[in-house]
This record gives sequence, structure tokens and C-alpha cells, in this order.
Amino acid sequence: MSTHATDKKLEATIDTTLADTFPASDPPAWTLGREPHVQTETTHEVPQNDEDTRLTILGIAGSLRRASYNRALLRVTQQLVPANVTLDIFDLAGIPLFNQDEEERLPPTVVEFKTRIRAADAILFATPEYNYSIPGVLKNAIDWASRPPGDNAWSGKPVAVIGASIGRLGTARAQYHLRQVFITLNMYALNQPEAMISNASDLFDAERNLTDKKTRDHVQRLLNQFVLWIRQVQDKQTPIRK
Ligand code: FNR
Repeated sequence: MSTHATDKKLEATIDTTLADTFPASDPPAWTLGREPHVQTETTHEVPQNDEDTRLTILGIAGSLRRASYNRALLRVTQQLVPANVTLDIFDLAGIPLFNQDEEERLPPTVVEFKTRIRAADAILFATPEYNYSIPGVLKNAIDWASRPPGDNAWSGKPVAVIGASIGRLGTARAQYHLRQVFITLNMYALNQPEAMISNASDLFDAERNLTDKKTRDHVQRLLNQFVLWIRQVQDKQTPIRK
């Protein structure tokens, strides 16, 4: 069975599990490809950037698998970011399991990870949902980069979250868990729009191109709003803690 066919089968299983909570006839309004719960003032317009306000966003996906929808989603965001914004992707495949014994002499891949985080103006997470929460791969990487005490690489960074799931809730539960983690990391999260992309196997093709225009447009809106948010945070930020 192809990966795509397997996903469709899994989706059916997850939907059955969720059916009691969210009957098919009454899907929650804030999952995608539906409109966000609260309309923001965002437009499809691409924000203008001067050369000297070039921004770099570091994209991090919480999945290692080749056919990942979330990795594919991050690749899509690379095509959709405004002019003069660069979106680099950091692959978590080389990050070892966290071991507090090693936090005073970090493994080289973690040192590189922290350097890339610090060099970026902002962070974009694309998270799957595993068992109603953040995948261990992502939480593990987040924990490494927050250590040792006093050397939290995430602190003060603007951050946005997107996520795609083959289920009906589009990673909503994982995204809210992730947002809780941002509090201790001292990250400044874009609140809206949210992008909880449900039924991903209907929106991406077998090569993991995002073929659904509505979803693409929504991700575009989020990115445009994120760029404005990054500027706001950078303009107003005074250091809170190192
Ligand atoms: C899942 N999946 C899943 N989906 C969901 O909507 N809610 C959930 O709680 C879970 N739980 C879960 C646990 C584990 C261990 C796995 C492997 C999968 C399905 C998940 O959404 C699906 O596999 C996505 O395709 C994973 O993201 P990537 O790898 O495609 O980016």
C-alpha cells in the first residue's frame, strides 16, 4: 500500500476516534481549510520590505519522516514568504536525545542548532500531533536549545506555529501544548491567524505538493501577518532576560 493510501486509512481511524467529540456534520470552525475563528485584518498583500530590513526565519518541523506533511508544509512556506524574507529549514534528524549530563558541553549538532536559532529573526514551527501533543522529536530539540540555564537560545524570538494532520483537528491540541511551552522559553507567539490543517491527505498530492488553494492562501496570510509581527516585536523589544 502506498504512503498516501496508508494515510487515508489512518485518517479514517483517527476520525472514528474523534467522532464522539466532533461529529462529521459539525466540524470545529477553526480548523483548516476553513476560515479562522476570528477574522484578522490580514490581506493577501505581500508586506513591503526594505533591503536593510531583510528578515530570516528559521523553520523547524517536528517530523523526521520523508513523506511528512509538516516538512512539506515548511517547504511550501519557503515559496510563500514575502520578498526579502528568507526561510531556512533546520532538520532535526541529527539532534541526539537530551541528556542533562551533557548540557554544560553540548553536542556539536546542538551547538549548531542554537547558533542557527540565534542568527534567525524568528522561528516558525510546523508540528504534527502525536497522541494529542507535541512529538517527542520536537520537544527534545526545544529542550536542548533552552539549556544550560541562562543560555536559552529561544528567548525573545517571535514565533509562529503551523501544523498538518491527517485527522480532523489539524494538530490543534499539539499547537496549544506548544504555545504553553513558549511561555517558559520567553518566545513571542503570533496569536492569529492560526493554521490547523486537517485532513492533510486531501490537501497534498502524493508528491506532497500542497494542491489546495484555500489552504495555500491561508498559509500565505499567516506568513504575511507573521512578518508584521516580527517587526513589531523587534521594534518594541527591550531585553527581558538573557
Ligand atoms: C499520530 N497521528 C495523530 N494525528 C492526530 O490528529 N492526533 C493525534 O493525536 C495523533 N497521534 C499520533 C501518534 C503517533 C505516534 C503517530 C505516528 C501519528 C497521525 C499524524 O497526524 C500523522 O501521522 C501525520 O501525518 C504526522 O505528521 P507528518 O509526519 O506527516 O508531518
